[in-house]
Amino acid sequence: MNIQENISLKYYNTFGIDVTAKRFISIDSVYQLQQLLKIEKDIFLISGGSNMLLTKDINKLVVHINIKGIVIDREDDNNVHLTVNSGENWHEFALWCVSQNYGGIENLSLIPGNVGTCPIQNIGAYGVEVKDTITKVEAIEIASGKLVQFSNEECKFGYRNSIFKNDAKGKYILTSVSFQLTKTNHNLNTSYGAIETELASKGIEKPTLKDISDAVIAIRKSKLPDPKEIGNSGSFFKNPVITKNQFLDIQKEYPKIPSYTVSDSETKIPAGWLIEQAGFKGKRFRDYGVHTKQALVLVNYGNASGEEIYQLAQKIQATILDKFGITLEIEVNVIH
Ligand code: EPU
Repeated sequence: MNIQENISLKYYNTFGIDVTAKRFISIDSVYQLQQLLKIEKDIFLISGGSNMLLTKDINKLVVHINIKGIVIDREDDNNVHLTVNSGENWHEFALWCVSQNYGGIENLSLIPGNVGTCPIQNIGAYGVEVKDTITKVEAIEIASGKLVQFSNEECKFGYRNSIFKNDAKGKYILTSVSFQLTKTNHNLNTSYGAIETELASKGIEKPTLKDISDAVIAIRKSKLPDPKEIGNSGSFFKNPVITKNQFLDIQKEYPKIPSYTVSDSETKIPAGWLIEQAGFKGKRFRDYGVHTKQALVLVNYGNASGEEIYQLAQKIQATILDKFGITLEIEVNVIH
């Protein structure tokens, strides 16, 4: 086992936070992982590093999950069933599916991170959530070293949520994810306003999977910073769900407030809009700040510390609570 010492994690997290792993190992097979767990269980996992904010050096053994490979389990005329190992890059997998004419995840193009972490937060964008295509998640139970399976139902998926953020948190290492995708009669999801506008601007009436993927990529590039250029973890907060009555009160004062109906009694509000109204959009403090084009994204312009970004997040939470009476929940995994 090749355990390295004093490794910077700057290039292992999309926020680009420069903290040090006292000990570090990159794992490329389930077997290697099981062998490692026999000698060390107190570990810190890192995969694509796209949904975490590191605020200090890591004293535990940092285990980088780099297990690659895609297998087609079975297919018929209409569907394909695939199992993808957790270290595969999500966007490359999404593009590959589009190139094979496998439908279901084209709206999730350009989301940073790896396949193995997509179920944890149930990644979602432009009207699609990954839970709609996942059939099974395979994981190693850290305590026993045994390989276990979670059906879609057992994953208990919700909005940016799953069992892996709750009851199963810290107990498993996800090793592969299985998907069911379409080969014909794709269930295209183009109703999200920005996609409709993008397709219309290109004069596309009957979009292919590639047209949708290209539209999503164009929209994301226009709003969201590329982590290779500006460190970030996508949406830092969840969009809050408030009661209809609270929404109606806020709407009286802000008639233009955007909203999505969740149920008869609940409404979801874009956190980015709230943060913009509170005056934070585009604000920069030293080397960190709020993205200029999407206020839901906190950014590291170079050498910010995780603690600085976390303090900014807390300041935003306090301001939104004070101004709107709404509690913003942090979506990114903050490591203290
Ligand atoms: N808005 C503002 N100001 C801003 C940002 C947004 O007023 O600075 C308004 C927009 O004008 C629009 C509304 O808020 O009316 C929604 O904005 P957008 O379409 O950009 O989506 P979002 O709700 O801010 C969510 C996801 C994103 C996902 C997009 C598209 C969450 C926490 N975020 O953002 O996911 O890409 O929808 O589906 O649900 C992520 O999770 O990392 C992520 C980027």
